[in-house]
Amino acid sequence: MKKLIVLVMTFIIMPLMAQDGAESIVHHYAARNFLAGEVSKEQLDTVLTAGVNAPSAMNRQPWHFTVARNPKLVKQIIPDAKDGNILIIVSAEPKANEGSIVLDCGLAVESIYLAAQAIGLGSRIYTGPMNTVNSKFKNELPPGHTAIALVRIGLVEKTDAVTAASNRKAMDKIVTYK
Ligand SMILES: Cc1cc2nc3c(=O)[nH]c(=O)nc-3n(C[C@H](O)[C@H](O)[C@H](O)COP(=O)(O)O)c2cc1C
Repeated sequence: MKKLIVLVMTFIIMPLMAQDGAESIVHHYAARNFLAGEVSKEQLDTVLTAGVNAPSAMNRQPWHFTVARNPKLVKQIIPDAKDGNILIIVSAEPKANEGSIVLDCGLAVESIYLAAQAIGLGSRIYTGPMNTVNSKFKNELPPGHTAIALVRIGLVEKTDAVTAASNRKAMDKIVTYK
């Protein structure tokens, strides 16, 4: 009996759990229709933890996360934001000799974006408002920092991520095997 349980766990339950784990990474989409409503402190902490734990070259962790929750500030940056939407602005201090800073911050952005969707929130990455953030709201960032991107998180209607996502290039057009 014990042997049977171990076999079922190893060959059925655990592979299924692994597939579930990959699901929110493989199938995600940039939310379009956010809803008004509060993101809980626990949800926000989970999403930020994903950013904190992102990988970076030589583990330099060059990023800072500015969490914009003040509705006035949020709407000045994203005018169509809904009440309760939160913007996580990822910034870093540009350094001429550390070429991977933008990539590092991009990975933190992606981790935040995916973690939000994994816990049932909507998320969308933005670089469009970076000029505004870096000119009008520079004083909200740590001294010397430049904003690289932001992730908007918030409540969203439950949608099927497979159909909600825009089309992607076909795998056989962008992958080569040697
Ligand atoms: C680096 C980056 C910058 C983006 N900037 C914006 C933006 O400024 N405004 C916007 O509405 N969406 C922005 N997006 C969202 C993309 O348009 C979206 O991820 C892409 O079209 C795929 O959509 P889908 O996931 O729904 O298929 C950005 C995405 C990335 C990765």
